[in-house]
Amino acid sequence: MTPSPSVPGSRVASRLGLTERVFAGAKSRRLLRTVEGGLDRVEQSLAAELRMADPLADAASRYLYEAGGKRVRPMLVLLTCQLGEGVTEPVVEAATALELTHLGSLYHDDVMDSADVRRGVPAAHSVWGNNIAILTGDLLFSRASQIMARHGERAMRLQADTFERLVLGQMHETIGAQPGDDPVEFYLQVLADKTGSLIAASAQAGVLFSGGDPAYEQPLIVFGEKAGVAFQLLDDVIDLSDDPGETGKVPGTDLRAGVPTMPYLLLTQREDAASVSLRERIDRGVAEITDGADAAILDDALTALRDHDATEQTRRLAREWSQQGIDAIEPLPDGPVRDALTRFAVAVADRSS
Ligand code: IPE
Ligand code: IPE
Ligand code: MG
Ligand code: MG
Repeated sequence: MTPSPSVPGSRVASRLGLTERVFAGAKSRRLLRTVEGGLDRVEQSLAAELRMADPLADAASRYLYEAGGKRVRPMLVLLTCQLGEGVTEPVVEAATALELTHLGSLYHDDVMDSADVRRGVPAAHSVWGNNIAILTGDLLFSRASQIMARHGERAMRLQADTFERLVLGQMHETIGAQPGDDPVEFYLQVLADKTGSLIAASAQAGVLFSGGDPAYEQPLIVFGEKAGVAFQLLDDVIDLSDDPGETGKVPGTDLRAGVPTMPYLLLTQREDAASVSLRERIDRGVAEITDGADAAILDDALTALRDHDATEQTRRLAREWSQQGIDAIEPLPDGPVRDALTRFAVAVADRSS
């Protein structure tokens, strides 16, 4: 990604727009500088690992990395490692492996979602074709496993278990709820698996790779999973945003491709005439797009969904999940790390990019 100036706070701010919130207060300034220093190391490590010694593989795998990204997962690793010995080499490597796993999942996700834009640039499959995009994702997953393998069996197991859950989440989303499943519960489980799993692993990894107290791991896993669901619920709200400049994605990508998101699912539970009619408009539009119509035919319906209470209900749900995450870290010691995690959870449920 484009290097940003080394002013404390500026880098995390540019990635999350949340510095003042996650690292609020004088006591957090030191923590912020430590996290920023750690992020620099992770950035160098990512750049080094993204040399696969093959010109095409290098170019394809660096493509989305260089396009940007918030580095949310490394940031969590770097925060929770402060509960142990701090930013050790294994911590930097774990953060690198988890970010590479995330990166690989984006290559695959955009193929599956037929998404044209990612991180403000054309999606990898639009540039290189589906086969190269899929293979690049596979290479990134392999590289993540190689890094974790340097750190023993627990690291490998964390990587394998997390990746399995992520893939199952994507698979269940693709298959959809089956007869007898509650669609909202099913979807929340999908979010926990496809997104919560990696965020939970990141929160746990900081402790695991820095020799922190193992008793902190379980609360952090629960924290990460809940905050991850809240994060993804906001992703669904952001998907309806009319400001692609802010999100780096095309608004409504998921819904236009017929991938149901939480605002849509909550809309389908409403029985008033306006909600039923909006749902019908969306369904009709999705069917027409599937038959080749211009995706823009859904613009007005998606704006209506954004302004519908189902979207506000999604925000409320995100806040509930974020609060459950905060409650889970009660066993952690009082101090700047827990404060920052708490603010992180609040902020992900209230973000705009
Ligand atoms: C996008 O994740 C995919 C989801 C799991 C929602 P991020 O919003 O963390 O993506 P980048 O890394 O900042 O691009
Ligand atoms: C992405 O989910 C989840 C993973 C890549 C595992 P989405 O498809 O909802 O995320 P965006 O909106 O494309 O980033
Ligand atoms: Mg997607
Ligand atoms: Mg997807």
